[in-house]
Amino acid sequence: MKPENVVLSEDGRSVVIIDQTRLPNRTEHLTLTAPEHFYEAIYELKVRGAPAIGICAGMGLYVCANRFDETDEEVFLSKIHNVSVYINSSRPTAVNLKHGLDRIENAAHSMKGCGVPAMLENMRSECIAVQDEDIAMCRAISEYGLTLVKDGDGILTHCNAGPLATSLYGTGLGTLLLGKERGYTFHAYTDETRPLLQGARLTAYELDKAGIDVTLICDNMASIVMKQGKINACFVGCDRVAANGDTANKIGTSGVAVLAKHYGIPFYVFCPSSTIDFKCGSGADITIEERDPDEIKTKFYAEPMAPASVKAYNPAFDVTDAELITAIVTEKGICRYPYTESLTALFGGG
Ligand code: MRU
Repeated sequence: MKPENVVLSEDGRSVVIIDQTRLPNRTEHLTLTAPEHFYEAIYELKVRGAPAIGICAGMGLYVCANRFDETDEEVFLSKIHNVSVYINSSRPTAVNLKHGLDRIENAAHSMKGCGVPAMLENMRSECIAVQDEDIAMCRAISEYGLTLVKDGDGILTHCNAGPLATSLYGTGLGTLLLGKERGYTFHAYTDETRPLLQGARLTAYELDKAGIDVTLICDNMASIVMKQGKINACFVGCDRVAANGDTANKIGTSGVAVLAKHYGIPFYVFCPSSTIDFKCGSGADITIEERDPDEIKTKFYAEPMAPASVKAYNPAFDVTDAELITAIVTEKGICRYPYTESLTALFGGG
């Protein structure tokens, strides 16, 4: 199986993505070739999910570099850097974006003195390595996830942390998808995830397509399904994990964690090492993306759903305090609170 959401072309001159804003009704592909295409695709959430934007941005940097037609190494490196800074400015919260761009920029630097063609070749190999590593990390995370649940469990999900947001399997959804392959029956309760509905449009779509029992709920129904005993665990992905375990993920995640604690339900964060930022001491250091208020007032509605004059506040992420997280499931193992110690023990501080 190969990832379908973000695909580097054979000639290295374009990246083809599935336009996630068109799902679930239409599967449309977009061909990206220029810095502005990558910026716009990431900003507009045509490609989204922390690992996927890192992979796509890195491939974008390589594709743009391939199109420079530049032979001078210093000029080439300086042009790459400018494109990297530009694409990185498209969204602030997911650390994978910078991580993915830096990997490809460093691949060029490491071939300094060997000529631009060698730099490009190394950038291409690194793009493939980043995507392959993500597939392996998601698979390993899903294996660890399966040790935390049992057949028949009810799992609450928030936002989308499936194959569309990564490469294959996903992080938060990987356990459900791998479990399905192994014959487990899970019952997913999927928060629709206002305002951009990644749960309704993407998670419900991916789980349903895989043949997993999925029930869509509005975000404000999480409490009742927990109280009714339908939920055995909550599974979420993440965009940046600070050194102390504070975790930024889609807006509403921290509310789910607070509810889970109240009802004594384990709350698991699924996290590839590319999402851990040891330079961030705590959640207070994480920049939270604020998006256009009209996404709340008008998006997906035939007519505006609020008076035009009314203000709206649209933070795209929130930070779940480390104390509320039962475990952080990584490709190297399962970390428990206190995370400063457990994350450092597994990853050596980055
Ligand atoms: O704004 P989005 O859709 O990019 O937000 C994505 C999330 O919050 C995901 O949960 C996170 O990136 C993890 S994806 C494996």
